[in-house]
Amino acid sequence: MGDYRREYERSRKDPEGFWRDAATMIDWVTPPGRILDDGNAPLYRWFPGAELNTCHNALDRHVEAGRGEQPALVHDSPVTGVLTTYTYRGLRDEVALFAGALRRLGVARGDRVVIYMAMIPETVVAMLACARLGAVHSAVFGGFGAKELAARIDDARPVVVLAASCGVEAGRVVPYLPMLDAALETATHRPHHCVIFQRPQHPGALRPGRDISWAAALDGAEPAECVPVAATDPLYILYTSGTTGKPKGVVRDNGGHAVALRWSMANIFDTRPGDVFWAASDVGWVVGHSYIVYGPLLTGATTILYEGKPVGTPDAGAFWRVAAQHRVTTMFTAPTAIRAIKKEDPSGRLAGLYDLGALRLLFLAGERLDPQTYTWAGDLLGVPVIDNWWQTETGWPIVASPRGIEVLPTKSGSPSLPVPGYRVRVVGPDGTDVEAGEDGTILLELPLPPGCLPTLWGDDDRYVRSYLSAYPGNYLTGDGGRFDEDGYLYVMGRTDDVINVAGHRLSTGAMEEVLAGHPAVAECAVIGVSDPLKGQLPRGFVVLKSGVEADPIGLEEELVAMVRAQIGPVASLRRVDVVGALPKTRSGKILRRTMRGIADGADEPVPSTIEDAGVLDRLRPVLRNHR
Ligand code: COA
Ligand code: AMP
Repeated sequence: MGDYRREYERSRKDPEGFWRDAATMIDWVTPPGRILDDGNAPLYRWFPGAELNTCHNALDRHVEAGRGEQPALVHDSPVTGVLTTYTYRGLRDEVALFAGALRRLGVARGDRVVIYMAMIPETVVAMLACARLGAVHSAVFGGFGAKELAARIDDARPVVVLAASCGVEAGRVVPYLPMLDAALETATHRPHHCVIFQRPQHPGALRPGRDISWAAALDGAEPAECVPVAATDPLYILYTSGTTGKPKGVVRDNGGHAVALRWSMANIFDTRPGDVFWAASDVGWVVGHSYIVYGPLLTGATTILYEGKPVGTPDAGAFWRVAAQHRVTTMFTAPTAIRAIKKEDPSGRLAGLYDLGALRLLFLAGERLDPQTYTWAGDLLGVPVIDNWWQTETGWPIVASPRGIEVLPTKSGSPSLPVPGYRVRVVGPDGTDVEAGEDGTILLELPLPPGCLPTLWGDDDRYVRSYLSAYPGNYLTGDGGRFDEDGYLYVMGRTDDVINVAGHRLSTGAMEEVLAGHPAVAECAVIGVSDPLKGQLPRGFVVLKSGVEADPIGLEEELVAMVRAQIGPVASLRRVDVVGALPKTRSGKILRRTMRGIADGADEPVPSTIEDAGVLDRLRPVLRNHR
């Protein structure tokens, strides 16, 4: 039996022994005694009774172990021309001081702090400072607009909001304070303070009585020590898109998270202390939380915080420049980024300008990895390309080739095999496992391993309703796919109304809520359609209220602007068609899946439940026309 099989079987047969051993990679204040608390199933908790501090494990322990002068964080920002390196000691000191500043503002263990900042070191400092105090951070992606920010503020109810004055995108500055103002106007919750980090590219006007500057918050602050917390205490809340407009507050605990991420760095990513790990993602997404911030730092590796794009900052060689300059050993990004590079530099000429000799592995995730991108990247870089499938909810890969355990063959189109700790099933509508080769719904058997969400913030019921009730004893992933005869999983896409645009997870339901808010709109539908660069793009369809006349082009512009302002530019909604009617079932459900199939050029059957097939026939040419 190979090493992977042996590890996998052990994790199945003796999960508690398996995770007890993994927990030895973490420093504990009170080491784990009991490993799994199953007394409140289907809500499970890992390491009940144990205590630790995540920030200590990410920073202090490495300084104490002699890594103080090793680079911990490199901020490489082609959009501002800045390159800054923080050693473990330097980062620890900055974090301790900012934790002291937060404490002075009244932030204590269990309090929430919303972080609406850009890809700058202060964001990482803020996250770790919260962890140091046992406070719970909730970082909001800078590409989200006011409505999304307000929803998160109202749900997390933060004591303090931390914001940067702006983000810097390729070729444009994005002021954040107008978005913060708009969010706080609509939110019902009021934070006690907003702390604003002024960036020279666009300093913002502070609001007296509400805002203080980052510098003023730090002035005279005393460094704070690490506060021991329960392993089961929340470390962060990360909101993600569900099928409705209300985002889901995925909770991450301290103990399970630290153990799982540390284990994943060694066993999946084959990354050791001292290696240089670069996840080219954004700290606002789960990849950023797990593999820009926590995973590499818990490991004692160097992490790269890249404030730039794969193309245009300044060119399609940017990724290779960063990888070469910082001697990156392990890289992680989304397939879209590689497709964007390939589009601009199809021959890969720019990669040849850099010495990529340190690079050992390229990991790709966040969306389906198409075979062309897989092959192109592998041929160009000459290193293994490792597809890995997971989600915000799990926080670390569910299915991947675990490079630190065994070098297994990879297959194009499949993220490979279930990672130890996860029991993956593919079932049919009746909940029984389908045969290899047959498509079905992908489930994870409970309990989920450490690091996965224990619940949704403040809402156990919604957690159970959304994920655990469809197939009792199992977690519903929302993805469909199949196993092949060798046990390799093929993930084919979401079975719900969540879409994936350039590796960004978005809710069509949230966009529909915005469109429905326009006074001319009677009803609407948003679907995701295939796009060669971004994987998927949203398209909107609106039916006007009776008697309302509107210029379709002018209305489209207004609706696109509304979605951009409220959800954010990242939604990438550019096209909204005015149509006479939407196809529905007799019970009134809009046939979004059928619309999606037709838009993607599939030979989509007309469902027998359709109310009026003529409506679909009239829509067909509009769906097929991607202007
Ligand atoms: N703050 C403010 N605005 C942001 C933003 C942020 N953090 N991130 C993106 N946006 C804006 C972009 O500027 C763009 O605005 P525009 O409509 O005015 O051009 C819009 O949101 C859409 O952004 P994006 O989807 O990133 O598209 P793009 O055309 O700018 O770039 C790619 C395309 C493929 C280069 C880019 O999507 C990319 O690098 N993808 C990698 C995906 C990734 O890292 N995913 C994370 C999960 S691993
Ligand atoms: P997020 O929660 O933003 O990480 O998005 C998770 C979703 O992205 C999953 O449910 C999948 O639909 C999709 N996804 C992520 N990684 C992969 C992958 N390697 N292959 C296919 N789909 C993926």
